[in-house]
Amino acid sequence: MSNEDLMGILNPSRLNNACLGVSGMLLYTGEAFIQVLEGEEKVVDDLVADIKKDPRHKDFRIIERKKINTREYAEWTMGFKRVDKEELRNVPGLNKFFETDLSGSLSTDKSDLINKLTHHFLTESKKKNEHDELSLEEDDAFIRFLHTMIRFGVKVLALLMMLTVLWCVFDVMIVIYQEILSHPISSLGKSEILHVFGSFMIVLIAVEIFINITLYIRKDVIPVKMVVATALMAVARKIIVFDFHEVSALHVIGTALLVLALGGCYWLLEREFKVHSDA
Ligand SMILES: Cc1cc2nc3c(=O)[nH]c(=O)nc-3n(C[C@H](O)[C@H](O)[C@H](O)COP(=O)(O)O)c2cc1C
Repeated sequence: MSNEDLMGILNPSRLNNACLGVSGMLLYTGEAFIQVLEGEEKVVDDLVADIKKDPRHKDFRIIERKKINTREYAEWTMGFKRVDKEELRNVPGLNKFFETDLSGSLSTDKSDLINKLTHHFLTESKKKNEHDELSLEEDDAFIRFLHTMIRFGVKVLALLMMLTVLWCVFDVMIVIYQEILSHPISSLGKSEILHVFGSFMIVLIAVEIFINITLYIRKDVIPVKMVVATALMAVARKIIVFDFHEVSALHVIGTALLVLALGGCYWLLEREFKVHSDA
């Protein structure tokens, strides 16, 4: 089937499936189509009946029909993939796919193999959609090299940040000694205690920054969420050590607005992230 023929199936199908609230994936092996459809039972049954009548098919079979609680292909009105022999060569359980005769009556082995194939492409495309800022799977060798170098830089930064965290911990010890232990307990004032709290908060911010740095080399987290959390923490640190005799009302109102904005932003990001991971 030519590309135009395939697009002639895909384009109207995607449009129609979007209207029907149907999601799924279509695989083309060069000889056969394998399709997954998800949606309301009646809608999917009617659509399957339409597809079955399509003269572009020769031998139509339903491999599996089951009730599901969550859609696996929710992001696609009709995902499409050409199944490539080379691509499957190193995939355990699928490397003999093209040698298997799928014609004739359906056996459990055949339907297991087809299920394996659809799941393989589902996980592959999910992997591609994973958040990978500095991917080492880029097609362009130069970009891949740049990513490798930046990854190395990030690791150096992480090491330096780890040393900074240890330095901050040491600083906390010095502050505790200077502000609390070296004075008689009766002379311990509010400002000394706030100074100690401030030095603790600096360690926590340093740890957050360390986590932020390492996020760039992980795939499963959106760094912006962590950056907002760190900013929120930095503002919170200021609030904890506020001396309300010295700061103006406007300063307090401004800080409150900042906390609200950052908090709202974090909540929205959290919500967005959850929606995507549920899909
Ligand atoms: C392999 C294959 C898969 C198809 N998948 C869909 C599909 O998911 N959704 C869809 O609306 N049409 C799909 N079609 C097209 C339908 O068979 C049919 O042309 C379309 O539903 C229009 O039907 P109608 O002319 O009876 O309205 C597919 C066709 C083929 C050959």
